[in-house]
Amino acid sequence: MNKNFLRQEIIRLKTEKNAVILAHYYQGEEIQELADFIGDSLELSKKAQQTNADVIVFAGVHFMAETAKILNPNKKVLLPDWEAGCSLADGCDPKDFKLFKENYPDHVVVTYINCSAEIKAMSDLVCTSANAKKIIGSIPEEQKIIFAPDENLGNYLQKETKRDLVLWKGSCVVHEAFSLDKLIEIYNKNPNAKIAAHPESESHILKVAHYIGSTSGIINFIKTDPAAVFIVATEAGILHELSKAVPDKTLIPAPSTEDNTCACSECAFMKMNTLEKLYWCLKNESPEMKISEKLRIEALKPIERMLELS
Ligand code: 13P
Ligand code: SF4
Repeated sequence: MNKNFLRQEIIRLKTEKNAVILAHYYQGEEIQELADFIGDSLELSKKAQQTNADVIVFAGVHFMAETAKILNPNKKVLLPDWEAGCSLADGCDPKDFKLFKENYPDHVVVTYINCSAEIKAMSDLVCTSANAKKIIGSIPEEQKIIFAPDENLGNYLQKETKRDLVLWKGSCVVHEAFSLDKLIEIYNKNPNAKIAAHPESESHILKVAHYIGSTSGIINFIKTDPAAVFIVATEAGILHELSKAVPDKTLIPAPSTEDNTCACSECAFMKMNTLEKLYWCLKNESPEMKISEKLRIEALKPIERMLELS
């Protein structure tokens, strides 16, 4: 289908249906350009909570659209590709997590937002990469904590908060794929560069980073830091917004260990959403996110606690 036609139709359908398009920074450029709001997981949850639209099109992955539905039971929440999952969410099965949790009965459960509604419903608090330190810090010192499902983020939080966390061993396939050797090679050629990394990355990458933060944190760091060159260790979609925000700075995507045609890391799940799928999803109002009211209420509690604290 002609891309101009798709763009025009998406804009027309959006007005006709009073829809809003929320897009994560990891979406492809064409989708980011059509979005009403682009943000990180925390910002998008807040937007989903505040919107007056009747329809939310979540250009992101399944757990993000699910979170938007948990916060907006009376709105229609659409996801352009139903198969757009996440290795973190998919790697934490509710039955296994229930058994895991039973081994630590006196622990508070903090889960990263990258998990299913069933896992959220088993949690006391949810967090995103932007507020994880604050959420852990809000829990009394003597309280023992389970953190799931991202082990890398968990290790980073243990270091930062000096708390002993029981970790679920999940990982993000994109952030665990950064190559330290290739990163150092690039850095040696650009010794004045600053390295910015997402905390889903492995500890050897975080060790060499000048800045560690969520996607919006990385954007703010690069906007305000005086350096001229940055090596960016997160999903490559972030470079679209960044290059518009800092056109005079040089942005180098951190290389992945994979020797593929793209030297940088891309999330295959995020990139399942296309302009064409966005058009069909708005036109047909499908695939639509649905969740039972019982599960929604249970999953809402730890999300609301997070939003109150952030
Ligand atoms: P943030 O949006 O919190 O930076 O997380 C990145 C991510 O991997 C989302 O899936
Ligand atoms: Fe999940 Fe990683 Fe993709 Fe984010 S980048 S959606 S954490 S697989």
